[in-house]
Amino acid sequence: MTMQDNKTWSGRFAEPVAELVKRYTASVEFDKRLAPFDIQASLAHAQMLETCGIITTQDLADIRRGMAQIEQEILNGQFVWLLDLEDVHLNIEKRLTTLVGDAGKRLHTGRSRNDQVATDVRLYLRHAIDELYELIHSLQSAIIDLAIQHTNTIMPGYTHLQVAQPVSFAHHMMAYFEMLKRDAERIIDCRKRVNRLPLGAAALAGTSYPIKREMVAELLGFDGVCENSLDAVSDRDFAIEFTAYAALTMTHLSRMSEELILWMNPRFGFIDIADRFCTGSSIMPQKKNPDVPELVRGKTGRVNGNLVTLLTLMKGQPLAYNKDNQEDKEPLFDTVDTLTHTLRIYADMVGGITVKPAAMRDAALQGYATATDLADYLVKKGLPFRDAHEAVALAVRFAEQRNCDLSDLKLDELQQFSSLIADDVYSVLTLEGSLASRNHIGGTAPQQVEAAIAQARKYLEGQN
Ligand code: ARG
Repeated sequence: MTMQDNKTWSGRFAEPVAELVKRYTASVEFDKRLAPFDIQASLAHAQMLETCGIITTQDLADIRRGMAQIEQEILNGQFVWLLDLEDVHLNIEKRLTTLVGDAGKRLHTGRSRNDQVATDVRLYLRHAIDELYELIHSLQSAIIDLAIQHTNTIMPGYTHLQVAQPVSFAHHMMAYFEMLKRDAERIIDCRKRVNRLPLGAAALAGTSYPIKREMVAELLGFDGVCENSLDAVSDRDFAIEFTAYAALTMTHLSRMSEELILWMNPRFGFIDIADRFCTGSSIMPQKKNPDVPELVRGKTGRVNGNLVTLLTLMKGQPLAYNKDNQEDKEPLFDTVDTLTHTLRIYADMVGGITVKPAAMRDAALQGYATATDLADYLVKKGLPFRDAHEAVALAVRFAEQRNCDLSDLKLDELQQFSSLIADDVYSVLTLEGSLASRNHIGGTAPQQVEAAIAQARKYLEGQN
């Protein structure tokens, strides 16, 4: 193709764009995925142009006919994408003109690729958000389905990765439910700012045609229009905000992955992950590696990276549109893809977790997990908390030297540390007693966790 073929802007130029530059500046390789949104936005724009008397009814009919064919061609894989036509917008417009003639050339009236691309990206992202929102809920459902079976499965809760206090496995899993609930709130909040129409801003200053932006907004399901034309074509804060949301969700999943990896290690042996999420080693026949959680942890890095990419892309740009913004697409698409695949696979993987309650219980019994319960017991008998803390610390040391648990010590042995200890102490030293005593909203008592799960179910039902 020669320079003359690119009629959209080549008239002003005395020599053709260098081949290397063409390849450097073209975005069609990756922005062609915006095609369905580009067509949707063009059809709404054309309908508005016709309503406002800027193009004829015949033009609109021609544009619709041409776009329908283009949609089919793209769907069938017959559409020929040309690098010489730079991006998705010019490729589609050129094909439209080939198919329907002058009506195709009139489509771009009152519009620029600057407001066009901003509109396409927003439509794309809104669609992605709606899918992701559902996927977050599917993962939350999977977590609930697992948790409900384990409100009485006791494991050590950790701080500093040292045994701290006993908790139920259900309680532990429901912590992730809460994180995801906030993530769902974040993405929905972000959607409000994504869902505004840039079209009508044209290149940067608006257009002299008598357009109706509100009509286009309504046709495309936007909540309203972007209120400043310069801002409309130039800012990508909505994409940055989305990626920040995505980085947080990935971060939550990365933390959970780290736990699944630890728990699957035979030293913990708390869970098993279904074989379909693991791989073996080509050299060590005994291995079963938790590849999926490891990759989730790894892919969190690339999403975090995408956030930094987009922030950096924006920070030095003067108003209004700059070609820099073409670079917003790959990190954004990659973020959506990574998160979509991760959420999808994660919901399935959580459903494939086998819990090993005996190993969890053994671990909880090993780390003096009920020491705080003993201190609380003494406080309830009148000892100030700091003194109780000290008495129990000495008791733990004593038990440690004998290589046994606090509950294995005889009453007279325990009484060396406080005369307030009586034989009712053994009920607080058990794991079950410890759990049952934390009976308030947010606590690990089975009754509370069951209530939390019931509420979580109600929340999810309300979302559908
Ligand atoms: N491919 C461009 C982008 O993604 C479309 C807008 C180009 N506008 C322009 N005036 N060169 O940002």
